[in-house]
Amino acid sequence: MPPVEIMKGVYWVGAVDWNIRDFHGYSTERGTSYNSYLVIDDKITLFDTVKKGFASDLLHNVRKLVDPEKIDYIVVNHVELDHSGSLPEVMEAAKPEKLICSKMGKAALLSHFHREDWPYQTVATGDEISLGQRTVAFLETKMLHWPDSMFSYLKEDKLLISSDGFGQHWATSKRFADEVDQPELMRHAAKYYANILLLFSDRVQKLIETVTEMGLQIDVIAPDHGLIWRKDPTGPGAIVAAYDQWSKQAPSKKALIIYDSMWQSTETMAKAIYAGLLEKNVCVKLLNLKYVHRSDVMAEVLDAGALIIGSATINNGMLPTVADILSYLKGLRPANKIGAAFGSYGWSGEAAKLVSQALVEMKIEVVSDPIRAKYVPDHEALAPCVDLGRKIGDLLNQG
Ligand code: FEO
Repeated sequence: MPPVEIMKGVYWVGAVDWNIRDFHGYSTERGTSYNSYLVIDDKITLFDTVKKGFASDLLHNVRKLVDPEKIDYIVVNHVELDHSGSLPEVMEAAKPEKLICSKMGKAALLSHFHREDWPYQTVATGDEISLGQRTVAFLETKMLHWPDSMFSYLKEDKLLISSDGFGQHWATSKRFADEVDQPELMRHAAKYYANILLLFSDRVQKLIETVTEMGLQIDVIAPDHGLIWRKDPTGPGAIVAAYDQWSKQAPSKKALIIYDSMWQSTETMAKAIYAGLLEKNVCVKLLNLKYVHRSDVMAEVLDAGALIIGSATINNGMLPTVADILSYLKGLRPANKIGAAFGSYGWSGEAAKLVSQALVEMKIEVVSDPIRAKYVPDHEALAPCVDLGRKIGDLLNQG
């Protein structure tokens, strides 16, 4: 995709990856983009690069604007390889005067590329550099989502280059948020938040407070993945408001029944719980882990109020798909949710107990003993499942 001028003298020069389907365990069913921005000023500056394998896309775009050797500065806002994998090739082509990054960024670059000879200049929050007509201010965003992460703010343009923040994994031929289908855009932005940033929600809240206190005027947010937010109602105000809401993790009247089944007995229990919830007029979704990817489950978890997780017992434990989602959930630390466990068994019946224990360990408020049914549940065995659904429905309605 050719360069796109996103504001006067500032160009998107990144790469669109239409084919990627797995991003370290995140299902990128619609691909992604690796955004890189070139600023033409007295000091020509490139903000971030692209994943290894896409260096030629980036350099081809740059060459349409300037000879890469004319790049004076390269800013690395984040070292993860989707943004720095092409850095050795770009450094070779550009030979910049400065490679600007945070202190943790320098350490991470050295650990990734082992190049002591690169012209590092480290910056910290509040530091500024002049590009000529423009001033770039840096804001470290440690653990959003790596220790090295930072934002670059072009003061005169009121442009925030936000690294992974406010991104979406979505390959499109468009570059701006106001040019695409809005529900799909927000679905990708929410899935991205749930899978990448949820565990750092406290830091997101603090960052929003800090930016508000600093009085930063932001006309455009240019993330390193997906679409650029340039004007409300689909601009910076919309995505910052969404991040404010998501990071508060306020539960809604929505229950998820997340399960896997061996011979449909656990699934029958799931449907009985579903019936109980429906009586209480709350939003319910049945997510069978055989068919729903963990990252799509997480997108649903983002605003759910209740997680009801079921597994059949196998080999004295839970089914592998359930162990997978519990491990993934634990890492992403969902907050402010109630939960319960259920599952069928034949003789030993550990799975539901183990799921319940895992929910307790991740600080989900477990509101019921695990519900178990032997082999194939009959009407009597399903009654506690319906009751569990009703109970959770009542709790969600109480708020
Ligand atoms: Fe898009 Fe943390 O890399």
